Amino acid sequence: MLMTIEASAPAKIILFGEHAAVYGQPALAVPVSTLRAYAEVCPNPDGLRGLHIDAPDLGQHLPVDIHAETVDNALALTAKLVLQALSAPPPDVTIVLRSQIPIASGLGSGSAVSTALARALCLAVGRSPDLATLNHLVYEVEKIHHGTPSGIDNTVIVYEQPVYFVRNQPLETFTLGAPLTLLIGDTGIGASTKIAVGDVRRLVETDAAATLPIIQAIGEISQMARAAIERGDIQAVGQLMTENHALLCRLTVSSVELDHLVVTARQAGAVGAKLSGGGRGGNMIALVHAENADDVVSALRQAGAVRVVKTVLV
Ligand code: MEV
Repeated sequence: MLMTIEASAPAKIILFGEHAAVYGQPALAVPVSTLRAYAEVCPNPDGLRGLHIDAPDLGQHLPVDIHAETVDNALALTAKLVLQALSAPPPDVTIVLRSQIPIASGLGSGSAVSTALARALCLAVGRSPDLATLNHLVYEVEKIHHGTPSGIDNTVIVYEQPVYFVRNQPLETFTLGAPLTLLIGDTGIGASTKIAVGDVRRLVETDAAATLPIIQAIGEISQMARAAIERGDIQAVGQLMTENHALLCRLTVSSVELDHLVVTARQAGAVGAKLSGGGRGGNMIALVHAENADDVVSALRQAGAVRVVKTVLV
């Protein structure tokens, strides 16, 4: 019997500190293990030789040329970096990618797909992926998606653990003093993290006096939020989320649709709400008491969220 070789990686949400993380401020992110990207290693169809990547949802089918000098496709670059790191020749297979994670939505789809692909490729050449190496490789690919990524997305996705992230610092996780019930509300509007990060960079360069204090204030919120999460103070966590959202608005990374969902969630009884990820579209998150989660889900749907996913962090 043929064994299926399959690997996967989760989506992520940023609880606090997006954008500020790029400038060395702390940020908190958690994996969303119920939403995943998958990579399956399949035999090549008759007549096909070499390594191929098939991503039907993205409309991509590519042969991988590991000798190509410049590779600007994220999937091909992932494969090339993995094989280089392992000093392995390309296996004669097709790796098929599928993902439940909407793209350009702040949920780390790019990192998750790269991570699943890298894991599958390691398995296809008979090696077991080392997490630190994998994290480094996926970070290199993130540069295609994000330009100047902080590394938070690849870290939380590769390690699949809650992460208190500080750029260029060793991995630090955090614990929860009480479960957090979160709703992830999708505006349905795709947005480029690279553009949002670039716009914030321009603000930093052109108006540092106004922008750097906002970035610093977000970092302080992340620190307070970690303490509140660890002592299980749900009310304080929610309040800090709402404050974090207001600061992200001042960095110009929110949108009318995100603001509308954030306000709606709070009016429907959420303890706090904010955009999550790169912003300008994509997803927002709302912290709710378990007993009124359904009311907030309904309100978000009525306010235009195309999808609301509930996740409980324990
Ligand atoms: C994107 O998920 C998070 C940002 O802070 C960018 C980054 O940290 O690389 C917006």
